[in-house]
Amino acid sequence: MCGIIGYIGNRHVTPLLLEGLKRMEYRGYDSAGVAVMNGSGVETRKAAGKISQLERALVTSPVDGDMGIGHTRWATHGVPNECNAHPHVDCKGDIAVVHNGIIENSGTLKQGLQARGHRFVYLIEEAFDGNLEDAVIEALWQIEGTYGIAVVSSKDRNKIVAARKGSPLLIGLGDGEYYVASDVSAILAHTREVVYLDDGDVAILTREGYTVLNQRAQELERRVSKIDWDLDQIERGGFDHFMLKEIFEQPATVENCMRGRLLPDEGTSKLGGLNMTDEELLRFDNILITACGTSWHSALIGEHMLESLARVPVEVEYASELRYRNPIVTDKTLCIVISQSGETADTLAAMREAKARGARTYGIVNVVGSTIARESDGGIYVHAGPEIGVASTKAFTSQVIALLLFTLKLARLRTLSMVDGKAIIEEMQALPGKIQNILDRADEIEKIAEEFKNSQNFLYLGRGYSFPTALEGALKLKEISYIHAEGYPAAEMKHGPIALIDEKMPVVFITPHDSVFDKVVSNVQEVKARGGRVIAITTREEDALEGKLDYEFRIPETKDMLTPVLASVPLQLLAYYMAVKRGTNVDQPRNLAKSVTVE
Ligand code: F6R
Repeated sequence: MCGIIGYIGNRHVTPLLLEGLKRMEYRGYDSAGVAVMNGSGVETRKAAGKISQLERALVTSPVDGDMGIGHTRWATHGVPNECNAHPHVDCKGDIAVVHNGIIENSGTLKQGLQARGHRFVYLIEEAFDGNLEDAVIEALWQIEGTYGIAVVSSKDRNKIVAARKGSPLLIGLGDGEYYVASDVSAILAHTREVVYLDDGDVAILTREGYTVLNQRAQELERRVSKIDWDLDQIERGGFDHFMLKEIFEQPATVENCMRGRLLPDEGTSKLGGLNMTDEELLRFDNILITACGTSWHSALIGEHMLESLARVPVEVEYASELRYRNPIVTDKTLCIVISQSGETADTLAAMREAKARGARTYGIVNVVGSTIARESDGGIYVHAGPEIGVASTKAFTSQVIALLLFTLKLARLRTLSMVDGKAIIEEMQALPGKIQNILDRADEIEKIAEEFKNSQNFLYLGRGYSFPTALEGALKLKEISYIHAEGYPAAEMKHGPIALIDEKMPVVFITPHDSVFDKVVSNVQEVKARGGRVIAITTREEDALEGKLDYEFRIPETKDMLTPVLASVPLQLLAYYMAVKRGTNVDQPRNLAKSVTVE
């Protein structure tokens, strides 16, 4: 949510900043800007809208130098216009600041500063006495809330000062050049060596090196990490959109998540980052899973798996709700925290809350080195690779796999037999091929999308493991095509939503041949009897459904707990093709941002 980039070295900075901003555009695309240091001091260019607008502004009014900072914004406070775009510059035009996060005491600060003839962002200017890092540290003491910042000043040039609290920031290391960025994708084309900053860190970057201080100006040691992503992983590689590329990557990403973690002969899994002995695992009385959005949907699938296979009580809670309740969490609670980005503010806060109450935390995270990954007691990377499309696809299916790997481990220690464990593993190993089978028939889904592209509403219904899949299908559709869609447990439909059914209401049923199939058939009948149009995701020819479906898409059969992985793929494709046909911006849907680092 909002992206920061900064560079100091000897190269032309403007193209570097623009390139970094474009790679981070998925974090926010309301407005953008750069501040460049050159012979004239600090020069800024800003524009409302996407990075392409900023690019245009830079053609009309070029600027360059060999160091500078840039920002792409996802508006929280203040409309997304040019004035509110970052960088912000002080009264004299000497200091430029880019900022992510929310300053909670901004109201109080603003009043004080206005009374002294300044505006809010000029705290640093007030504190400046010739040394930029000292001024930044002094200003930070006055700030309450979250931030990731990068600052330059023509009065203490040849350095960038950056700081973080609650908003991710890393330093990229080059040869005589250094970067600061919110996200590794912004600098991956130039370096693979990074230093992740922790909350409370202040970094000073010069052409000669970097230093990390705490807020008492004491020097800190920070580990250098090596990034093993490839550049082509963050490029579209011939696909029209990142989302489509990421949907099509799923045979590989699901495989990656399982690689080296299955023990087929023992019917269990091997989880390197668990950081818990078998005895410790058996000590927990209950499991709490917390997450937001799509990750919360995978949590619901995890709940089902853990309860039925490991026979342990599980509760799933939205992170944003958990943190403001008084949850029953003890040192006998295992808190599983699921997040693609590893930076979602609510999820991070919920994890910290659970930890503070004595729970052990286990992170299921995609982004390597992210805050949740670093702060959880143990964890598993889902290894889906960079997910750039704002709508989460491959991370979701990998989260389900990671949850099953964890379930296998715990269930085999508790109640699951080796024979049953082996049978699950066999099915898991068959998944990549089965996903590929679905992707090979993407054109069937495209035809369904053509038929329904003008619909105003959609209902997604499923039962058992297919209920979270219904929620996920509906979320995908609404976020990228802007069609109102609701996911519901199929049998709950008759308690209200059935009133909505008429010939204009498409209803997507997720009806694999699983343990609740017969029950869902009755729900299909109820919809058909009221003139609704039924699109069904099925697994085989079913007499019971004969004549009741308007459209059908078959997915390969698998075990019940794995159907969400297969059934979500055609639903992702349906949302994608609908959005493309409606002309929306698939990878950057309106009002959304990839990682929500504000409350
Ligand atoms: C939906 C989507 C969001 C995220 C949610 C949590 O497609 O992407 O709902 O799932 O913002 O994000 P993470 O998983 O990064 O914590």
